[in-house]
Amino acid sequence: MKHKIKKAFADVFGESEDLRIFFAPGRVNLIGEHTDYNGGHVFPCALTIGTYAAVRERGDRLVRMYSDNFKEAGIKECSLDEIRYQKEDGWANYPKGVMAEYLGSGFSLPHGFDIVFLGNIPNGAGLSSSASIELVTAVILKECHGLDADMIDLVKLAQAAENSFIGVSCGIMDQFAIGMGKKDHAILLNCGTLAFEYTKLGMSGLSIVIANTNKKRTLADSSYNTRLKECREALFDLQKHLSIQSLGELSPSAFDAHAELIQNEVNRRRAKHAVYENHRTQKAAAMFSSNQLHHIGELMRDSHLSLRDDYEVTSLELDTLAEAAWRHAGVVGSRMTGAGFGGCTVSIVKDEAVSDFIETAGAHYEEQTGRKADFYTADIGAGARELKGDDNGD
Ligand code: GLA
Repeated sequence: MKHKIKKAFADVFGESEDLRIFFAPGRVNLIGEHTDYNGGHVFPCALTIGTYAAVRERGDRLVRMYSDNFKEAGIKECSLDEIRYQKEDGWANYPKGVMAEYLGSGFSLPHGFDIVFLGNIPNGAGLSSSASIELVTAVILKECHGLDADMIDLVKLAQAAENSFIGVSCGIMDQFAIGMGKKDHAILLNCGTLAFEYTKLGMSGLSIVIANTNKKRTLADSSYNTRLKECREALFDLQKHLSIQSLGELSPSAFDAHAELIQNEVNRRRAKHAVYENHRTQKAAAMFSSNQLHHIGELMRDSHLSLRDDYEVTSLELDTLAEAAWRHAGVVGSRMTGAGFGGCTVSIVKDEAVSDFIETAGAHYEEQTGRKADFYTADIGAGARELKGDDNGD
C-alpha cells in the first residue's frame, strides 16, 4: 500500500523526495452499540484496513487534497485561512473539519499540504471510514506542525469535527478505537469517564468475521441524531427523580424500577437498550479477557435483538445475515456492528468453519435479499500513526 500511495501521489501532484506516509485504521465494535453517547461502555478494536495518506508539506497556506477512492471528485482545495463546509466537497469535508477544529481550538497551523488519501475500508459499511480519515488528518497536522497534543486530544478533536462540521452527533467510540487501537487487543472504554483498558483477545481457534450487507448508509442521512434525541428525552424524564448524568450510570434493575418515569413508550425502549447493552458489554469484555466465550453467543444475540426490537436500527439485510450466522453450528456469536441502518455484522466463528459459514450465509443472504454480501476475516491492528521504516500499516 505504501508503494501504491506513493505512486498515486506522483500521478496527481508529481514526484516528491520528501513524502511522509500516515495511516489510520477502521474499527469493528465487538459489542456495546449506541452506548457511547449514553455514557456507557463500548468494546471495539482497530482493524488493519484503513486510510493511508501521502503528504508533502507546502510553503504557503494552501491545502490540496485528492482521494484515490473518489477519483471523479478530482482535487479539492482550500486555504487554511478560510475553511468552510461545502456540500459539493463531499469526502473532503472530513479532513477540512479536522483542520477547522484544530484552528478553532487555538492550535496554529502555519502551512498547508498536498495530500493524497487512499483507503481500503469499504465506504458506508459501518467500519468507520469517516473517523479513519479524520484521525489520519489529525495525526498529519500534529506531526507536521509539531503540535503539543496527545492521542486522546486528537480523538476529541476528530469527534468534535464530526459533531460540529459534519453535523453528526456521534459519540467517541470510533475516533477512540481508531486513535488508541492496539494490535490483537480490544478496548473496553467507559465513554462517561474515558477510563479504558486493553483486553488481549485470546481467540484460540476462533476468528472474527465481518460480513458487509453492502447496503450503504451515511450517518448524516440516517436516524442517528434522532436516537440521540430520544435517549436525551428519556434521561431528562429520569432526572426528575434520579440524580444521574447519563443512562450509563443505571444498572438494569435500577432502570426497571424507574422505567415508568419515562413518559414516551418509544423513548423508554431506546433507554432500555442503552442500559442493558452497557451491562452486556461489561460482561462480554470479561468473557473475552478470560477467554471464556461459552456465553458470548447469547450476549451478542441479545445485543442484536435489542438493537432490532428496542432501538430499531437493524434492517432486513442485517437481520438476515445475523440469523444465518445464529443457525450455523460453527458460529459462536453474531450481531450487527456500528450504527446500523445497513453496514456490517460481526461474528465469532470457529476457524475450521469460516469458509463454510461464508459460503452458506452468503448464499442464503443473496437468496433472501437479492444482494451479495462481502466477508472479511478481521485482523486487529494498531491505531493511527505515521508509517516509518518497515511499518506498512498492517
Ligand atoms: C457510530 C457512531 C459511534 C457509535 C456507533 C453506535 O459508529 O459514530 O459513536 O454511536 O455508531 O454504537
